[in-house]
Amino acid sequence: MKLCMIGTGYVGLVSGVCFSDLGNDVICVDKDNNKINNLKNGKIPIYEPGLEELVKKNIKNNRLNFSTNLKESVRKSDIIFICVGTPTKKNSNSADLSQVYSVGKEISKSINKFKIIITKSTVPVTTGDDLEKIISKKVNKRLFSVVSNPEFLREGEAIRDFIYPDRVVVGSNEEKSKKILRNLYSPLISKGAKYVSTNRRAAELIKYASNAFLATKITFINEIANLCEKTGIDVEDISIGIGLDNRIGSRFLRAGPAYGGSCFPKDTKAIVSTADKFKSNLSVIKSVIKSNQNRSDLLLKRLHSIIKKFNNKKVSFLGVTFKANTDDMRDSSSLKIIPYLSKRGAKIKYYDPTGSKKEFNNVKNVEYANSIQNCISGSDVIIIHTEWNDFKSINFRKLSKNKKLIIYDMRNIFSPTKIEKLGIKYFGIGR
Ligand code: UDX
Repeated sequence: MKLCMIGTGYVGLVSGVCFSDLGNDVICVDKDNNKINNLKNGKIPIYEPGLEELVKKNIKNNRLNFSTNLKESVRKSDIIFICVGTPTKKNSNSADLSQVYSVGKEISKSINKFKIIITKSTVPVTTGDDLEKIISKKVNKRLFSVVSNPEFLREGEAIRDFIYPDRVVVGSNEEKSKKILRNLYSPLISKGAKYVSTNRRAAELIKYASNAFLATKITFINEIANLCEKTGIDVEDISIGIGLDNRIGSRFLRAGPAYGGSCFPKDTKAIVSTADKFKSNLSVIKSVIKSNQNRSDLLLKRLHSIIKKFNNKKVSFLGVTFKANTDDMRDSSSLKIIPYLSKRGAKIKYYDPTGSKKEFNNVKNVEYANSIQNCISGSDVIIIHTEWNDFKSINFRKLSKNKKLIIYDMRNIFSPTKIEKLGIKYFGIGR
């Protein structure tokens, strides 16, 4: 099939490349000239394991193209995926849909035969209805169908999540596009992916409800971890003990810092805002948002009790992105913790496998170390902020001779007893 992905951010690029790998002809469109030129040469704007190889392979196979010309790309394609950003609006909790609607207008100028127009970006319930209205101002309704097909890709696992999804959700209000979409996804369905066909609004809500539920699960275990800290229990035991109940499930029960990233903080706010519009009170999700916002403050308080005096303390910070296997800094709790420590006089060295981050360029007392070893040497306190495999086998005693060394393992990747056997004071989350 001939596909066009509009927006070469995370969602558009990964989905476009994976669709081309399944044998479709794909054009990825973006208005950023530089990005498109780089992509044509196989240069990837984001860190995502396996993506570069897949881009190069499919460029070579002539199934993957990049363009800045939206109109021409739409004309050449049968299915158009809208994959532009839907960030939180300034001074509001609702999603900013201006990019989705402006792309919709652009598309409407280039419809020369039947097209399926799909929102893959996360969009609030009724966005498809509005998009349909916008396009039908220029185009007869028989010539297009607006469909919702949300993505469920995790950064760092995006290719695997695309090829082996738990489910594919397609929301359409008419039969023709339902058939075509089922056909598009048939290679994944034949490998075992469940296919969920709903109406358009339901698919839009499935995406938000999924992310809100996952955010709730994480927040739940984080609060249980707080109780564990007060009662001398290891939260890891609780995660195992409750996760083995199939009704609960063991995934997304890892206690840690406040959840972050490009989706959970934004989507939890947006679903609440949509519900408010429809006079429906999502009180559970509201509490989740609040609890997650409080979480960083809580961890800072804990840091006070662990470090006592920050002034001139040498702090090593391992991993600054919002989680491992990504270079994404959006809503990472390190953006709160590092400046807080710096303000109180701590001297911070940080290391991240994806390199230094511009977010800390102007923060006092913060420097980037180009290796784990350089980050840790001479340190008083090591904070493990993300769960990269690179950190799991660190031999702390080999890298630091400090007899009073403290480790604050915010992802519980180490065994407390093993670390304490090395004569290092260990603190984790919920243990
Ligand atoms: C998420 C959704 O998982 C994905 O389906 C959606 O389409 C996009 O948003 P992503 O933001 O890449 O993906 O990250 P995810 O792995 O879900 O983690 C989100 C946040 O939750 C991170 O801050 C992570 O550290 C945290 N988390 C996750 C935990 O603290 N504990 C867990 O058990 C799982």
